Amino acid sequence: MRDVLVPEAARVRRFVDRFARHAEAAGYGQIITPLLEDAAVFQRVGEATDVVQKEMYRFTDNGGRDVSLRPEFTASVCRAFVQHRPATPWKVWTAGTNFRYERPQRGRYRQFDQVDAEVLGTEDPLVDVEMIALGWHFLQSLGLRQVRLLLNSLGEPGERAAYVEALRTYFGSRAAELSDASVATLARNPLRVLDSKRPEDAAIIAAAPTIEHFYGDASRTHFEVVRDGLDLLSIPYEVSPRLVRGLDYYVRTTFEYVGATLDSAQNALGGGGRYDGLVESLGGPPTPGIGFAIGVDRTLLACDDEAVFDAREPAVDMFVVDTTGGAAALAICDEARRAGLRADRAFDGRSMKSQMKSADRSGAAVAVIVGSDEASAGTALVRPLRGDGDQRAVPRTDLIQTVSDELNG
Ligand code: HAM
Repeated sequence: MRDVLVPEAARVRRFVDRFARHAEAAGYGQIITPLLEDAAVFQRVGEATDVVQKEMYRFTDNGGRDVSLRPEFTASVCRAFVQHRPATPWKVWTAGTNFRYERPQRGRYRQFDQVDAEVLGTEDPLVDVEMIALGWHFLQSLGLRQVRLLLNSLGEPGERAAYVEALRTYFGSRAAELSDASVATLARNPLRVLDSKRPEDAAIIAAAPTIEHFYGDASRTHFEVVRDGLDLLSIPYEVSPRLVRGLDYYVRTTFEYVGATLDSAQNALGGGGRYDGLVESLGGPPTPGIGFAIGVDRTLLACDDEAVFDAREPAVDMFVVDTTGGAAALAICDEARRAGLRADRAFDGRSMKSQMKSADRSGAAVAVIVGSDEASAGTALVRPLRGDGDQRAVPRTDLIQTVSDELNG
């Protein structure tokens, strides 16, 4: 787990703020779910998944309850839906920290943040399009250009199950040629074998049956409407019949935003899809759902690689240099901050020279200087630190207005 320092933490906040603007512009309201829930809630993402089998931070609390830190949001959002029964369609977004016990590496951490959007209560394929477009335009707005959208449909539950059986038979017949890791995956979850990146599996996977042969009319039509909608919005996508996601609740539409600059094992900036059976498995009425999550940490790595959405060193508007003991700086900063300016100062009664150094480092556009002459005259010196412009003495009563004017050019 990592510390996020200055200025990166502010970049994370801007990222989440940006996502909030996009989601709220599309009619999604924010919700906040607990960081810790009954482990049974998260088990619904799939008993056979790595997330449930190996990655949950699961423990017994002091009251003897079996609980887990959240590995993702979707199960919690559905649990909240079942508990509160809001009107549908329920369009929500959320953001925050998740935990998975994975092997940490660039782009993969045990504590990571996601932004997430979900819609419950409609199976209209146009909501799938809206969802995919929301994530796409958000990533574009960061300035990312090397992102591909992969799209697939896993069919309806019965079709998906038939496909899984076909894969079980196919991979079973070629088990002797598969990697040991894929043989183990096959026993648990034949779909996930498609995700193997091991070279010895590649040819066998390339010849595996594909899902489209298992679609019934309804899922074929649903998928067509989704693709037509993306075409209508001019959002480029690649149909990727081997796109299977790491969580088991998906049916019909699934998608991933893939970053071209990242290592293939960690190149999914985000992904999602339909999970029409999840609410029911949590004890609610049959309710379709769709959503996605984008990984904050990983997407910011992609931003670094493309040199977009960079971190900004924090800067204040003005820095007060006070060589008369510090009380003048206290009063001036207080007045400036109440007027909405960002103001900072030095402490510990340091020398003029040392305070001026701090003023430079603060990124301030203006230094306000109070020495003994100014203190007795009831003035302060306003000295521009960027560009040219002369230092001038200003009555204390006009000081904040003068600095504001100076900042506004
Ligand atoms: P996911 O594919 O497991 O989906 O995660 C979504 C994104 O979270 C990934 O593409 C990645 O960017 C980020 N992520 C996941 N694990 C890690 C990690 N260990 N370190 C860094 N980043 C990570 C879900 O979580 C689903 N709940 C998405 C969804 C919402 N489906 C429907 N609604």
